[in-house]
Amino acid sequence: MGILYMEEEKLFKLDTPRTTYCIGLIDREGFLGHVYYGRKIENVQGASALMRVYEHPMTPETNARDRLSFLDNFPAEYSAHGVGDYRESSVRVRSALGHSAVLLTYESHEIYRGKESLAGLPATFGGENEVTTLSVTCRDRALGLRAVLSYSVFEDTDAIARSVRFFNDSDQPVFLEKAMSACLDMDDRDFDMITLHGSWARERRMDRRRVSHGKHAVSSLRGEPGHQEHPFLALLEHTATQTRGDVYGFSFVYSGNFRMQTEKNQFDSVRVTVGIEPEDFSWKLAPGESFQTPEAILVFSGEGLGGMSRAYHDLYRKHLIRSPYRNKKRPILINNWEATYFDFDEEKLLDIAREAAGLGIEMLVMDDGWFGNRFDDNRALGDWQVNEEKLKGGLKKLVDGVNALGMEFGIWFEPEMVSPDSNLYREHPDWAIAVPGRTPGLARNQYVLDISRREVRECILEQMFAVLHSANIKYVKWDMNRPLSDLGSAAAEADRQGELYHRYVLGMYEMQERLLAEFPELLLENCSGGGARFDPGMLYYSPQIWCSDDTDAIERLAIQEGTALVYPLSAMGAHVSVCPNHAVGRNTPFETRGFVALAGTFGYELDVTGLSKEDKAMVGRQTAMYHKFNDLVREGDYYRIASYGDNHLYDCFQVVSKDKKESLVFYVQVLGEPSRHSRILRLQGLCGDAIYHLYEADMQGEGRSIVKDTDREYSGQLLENGGIILERLWGDFRAKLIWLTQD
Ligand code: GLA
Repeated sequence: MGILYMEEEKLFKLDTPRTTYCIGLIDREGFLGHVYYGRKIENVQGASALMRVYEHPMTPETNARDRLSFLDNFPAEYSAHGVGDYRESSVRVRSALGHSAVLLTYESHEIYRGKESLAGLPATFGGENEVTTLSVTCRDRALGLRAVLSYSVFEDTDAIARSVRFFNDSDQPVFLEKAMSACLDMDDRDFDMITLHGSWARERRMDRRRVSHGKHAVSSLRGEPGHQEHPFLALLEHTATQTRGDVYGFSFVYSGNFRMQTEKNQFDSVRVTVGIEPEDFSWKLAPGESFQTPEAILVFSGEGLGGMSRAYHDLYRKHLIRSPYRNKKRPILINNWEATYFDFDEEKLLDIAREAAGLGIEMLVMDDGWFGNRFDDNRALGDWQVNEEKLKGGLKKLVDGVNALGMEFGIWFEPEMVSPDSNLYREHPDWAIAVPGRTPGLARNQYVLDISRREVRECILEQMFAVLHSANIKYVKWDMNRPLSDLGSAAAEADRQGELYHRYVLGMYEMQERLLAEFPELLLENCSGGGARFDPGMLYYSPQIWCSDDTDAIERLAIQEGTALVYPLSAMGAHVSVCPNHAVGRNTPFETRGFVALAGTFGYELDVTGLSKEDKAMVGRQTAMYHKFNDLVREGDYYRIASYGDNHLYDCFQVVSKDKKESLVFYVQVLGEPSRHSRILRLQGLCGDAIYHLYEADMQGEGRSIVKDTDREYSGQLLENGGIILERLWGDFRAKLIWLTQD
């Protein structure tokens, strides 16, 4: 069992395969303190001293007068508010009397095998032999507020899942104004922090900087994580690299407003807090009611960033993604968005499908524009009835036609939105999120539906189910193309308006749960104006998420690198599109576009009927390549070798099978350089003693084989320590895919 309570020491010891986490208890007062998190320690005897509670003047038991000095430096497991810890609190309330202070102290604990699900929320899961949970019950006696802090440790992954559930045991309502999911206090170790930031079509760029005094936060108030900031933060030693150094990762399993923050205090200790953004959050807990926070996932790696990424990939693949597709090859799809935008009819779609089927593409996805009078993005969201002017003969006829070509069919929805110019809005103007007396702001010509309301969710799901039952539809792209604003729900009482942001997210989760219950075999892909809702919460519902509306292969290098810092390649929606690219106007070789998309779910987003003969031939080879390598890409371990973001010249990463028998090396020479004839790159993750045979992907050839034997063989040790030599490629944006195999 991964969790132990050491009675004498008053110490909880939580172990994962290679890490240890210790919580200490100050018996008399019941303060829960953070003792240690890092490399595994078998024998932690004496560790409680690391809480430093007996240092003058911070001894609460012997010097009760000086509790403020104590609390303001005590390494708290879950920080108090308004009682003397002046750093970031984990919880704040508005009591019936209007007070805000909270001090939670230990009451009891329980250790059990397995892990409970979190009502209405996505969360990691595992069986009794895979995960062990510690739940510590704490109480604020003045408020009658109980909090159960949960810690789950996994047997096979270096990850700890934390969340908190609050109960109002008093006879008065209390408002939770802040309820973070996790807090971690550590002494500063010359930490840097990494966060992911961006914009539309430029998501999840890595941002690394020193942790300095004061607070530094990333957050969202958009009702979704957004393109701009991301619910992830890493603390790492300043000298840490991909392969070396201590790294602490914090990832938040939630798809709404979040705040991830570091705070370095007067004594150089660093507090990290993770949870729902407290601004515009106020949750009324009536007597007897409870509130569950979402889950935060902590990972420690003593092997640099690469070790952290691999732990998250494993955890999310095994213990978060539930889809029947999680261990399966996904159909190679072609999406008509960049091919046609709104300008299509059934003939055009069938033309694309006909050509695509012959090239090995397996599914046609009909994107935005098939419903209501949706001829452009000014109208019709909310009216989910097939537009038979566009799709003559109806949806079933089209789907049957596509199926007859041997292809599956998928469809796009944007269920959370309503256009002012729609029948739905004309009938139910109060279903849009809005503040009475204020016209809500439009974004992409649309309003956000108040899906905190059951009747709104029902109406949309009913329409969706009717469409999905009407034909053989295997895939849904669930989109969300604007952030929330003008927060107000026509159905909520005044003292519950502060719940809307979170209730919106709960409503969206419930809708996705219902959709999957109705269609258990459905392949769901989430999307939000590209990658604005690419977060662990959504992975609980869909095994893949559209990564970005930017499909340019070079832009994708940074987007996919930042995404792969936390998420497995199997989750990253990635397509080959046309050039000049629609987001940046860049021309890149078709071959390069294929290799970059291969590092994700792989598919196409172009009018395949308009491709040259050569490109069509390459599509045939690319689809074969997908089938040859997808198991490895989907299930393998990811190693980052070089980053174009750092060197501005080239990008390189590797995927290694779990048994280390084979590996794929992705190399993109972004810019050609004069008089540099080759470059040596040291590989990672291989078996030292093994001999690897080298093949290169052959995308231009005529033969059936899509790899060329180089007749070169090297030991794993040589490839890791000496490296692999990559010859210069002629021109910019050129790429190479190398396959190493022991067979
Ligand atoms: C968003 C998505 C695109 C496409 C359009 C359709 O921007 O990210 O892939 O589906 O909506 O309107």
